[in-house]
Amino acid sequence: MSAMTSKNPLQASSSREGIPPGEPLSLVSICLDKDTWGILKLFADSTPVVRLQKHLGDYRLDDHESVLEWVGDPAPDICLLDFDGDRRSAAMVAERIHADAPDSAIFAVSSQSQPDLIIQAMRSGCSEYLLKPLDPEQLLNAVARVGGRRREKKESDRGQMSAFIGAKGGCGVTTLVTQLGASLAGYCSRKTLVVDLHPDFGDAALYLGLTKYRYHFFELVENTDRLDADLLQSFVLHHSSGLDLIPAPHGTEPARRTAPGALNHVIEFVRSRYEFILVDLPPGLNDENLDLLRHCDQVNVVTVAEVSALRNVVRQTDYLTRKHIAAERIKVVLNRHQKRALITEAQIEKSIGQKIFWKVPNQYVHVVKTISGGDPTGQVSTSDVAKNLQDWAAAIGKKAGAEEKKKEGRRMLTFWNR
Ligand SMILES: Nc1ncnc2c1ncn2[C@@H]1O[C@H](COP(=O)(O)OP(=O)(O)OP(=O)(O)O)[C@@H](O)[C@H]1O
Ligand SMILES: [Mg+2]
Repeated sequence: MSAMTSKNPLQASSSREGIPPGEPLSLVSICLDKDTWGILKLFADSTPVVRLQKHLGDYRLDDHESVLEWVGDPAPDICLLDFDGDRRSAAMVAERIHADAPDSAIFAVSSQSQPDLIIQAMRSGCSEYLLKPLDPEQLLNAVARVGGRRREKKESDRGQMSAFIGAKGGCGVTTLVTQLGASLAGYCSRKTLVVDLHPDFGDAALYLGLTKYRYHFFELVENTDRLDADLLQSFVLHHSSGLDLIPAPHGTEPARRTAPGALNHVIEFVRSRYEFILVDLPPGLNDENLDLLRHCDQVNVVTVAEVSALRNVVRQTDYLTRKHIAAERIKVVLNRHQKRALITEAQIEKSIGQKIFWKVPNQYVHVVKTISGGDPTGQVSTSDVAKNLQDWAAAIGKKAGAEEKKKEGRRMLTFWNR
């Protein structure tokens, strides 16, 4: 086995058409004959789409050795496996890689083109069968297919981001964000982050009982040039439900000018690390909020059944749709809902021109207790509000088995409340 490095593919001058830009795919070659190896090396040197990581000179992969130890950890994006030396061993190696490193694509290379041999290679886990002499164009197309799949996976792996904005101050945004977030993290076992985007006096940390912290979200945005997993961790507060929070400033802060794109950079980064991101926005719209709202999967306008708030819902939805935020992403959440309210649901829906997406019951004493306890999943969370928000969390974040966990959670809470 010999290690090998290539010229930095990112510096290679020619880039091929049809391959979208992005990080090069890592490639490990296994048992390539001299000619094929030469073609591969030329290919890698002339195009920035692959980075040769390793060349393995035999099919030796004994039962006790882990695939990742052999091909490298993290596993390469592509293993180029020559089947001509020993077809049986090559097929066994392909099977092991396929089983232990399922995200690695395996390309078979061979001078044999009999259909049964091709089928055998595909059955052992190869996704491509490339004939010798290796055709760079064919290799490029195969690499592009892997790149396309990787991008699609990355897209689907991004966390869902929902913003919450009040039709006016005090409609319950922070209450809903923190309780829904705690339910997603606790009952649904989803990796969830709340971002408090108030420029000053954020309440989310207080509502979660997390009062000791030094850094806030806007400082993170100012440090995007250093942004990595460690830096993010130093800004994140952890709630006992499993919910994470990046707080807003404690008090007043001088006006900040963030570099263009910095906020989006942070948001994209956290989206790759969390399944759900809930953003607690201050009421009122400005350009920065708007920029963020454009990235959200859902924008929840939280209102109460009062004329002034409902009038603002109409204004806000009009404004957002004018700013090209798709109407179907804007949802109206009616908080503090009471069955016998002065303004009926039908009247509300008529006045806002759309259906109410979610109704949260009015339960002031319970909500205030939850807030002062700082624990949305704790002792008072058997309230109707908590159950209602658990149902919302389950509707968006339920995984197999979550229902059981939720029942178990409720059983435990009933037990504690005795
Ligand atoms: N479903 C509810 N039932 C009863 N009271 C509620 C409910 N939701 C929120 N409240 C109460 O409404 C008040 C305001 O709630 P909250 O701070 O969450 O609103 P907000 O929209 O975040 O306010 P701000 O605009 O100041 O950020 C709190 O006292 C809270 O207890
Ligand atoms: Mg608030």
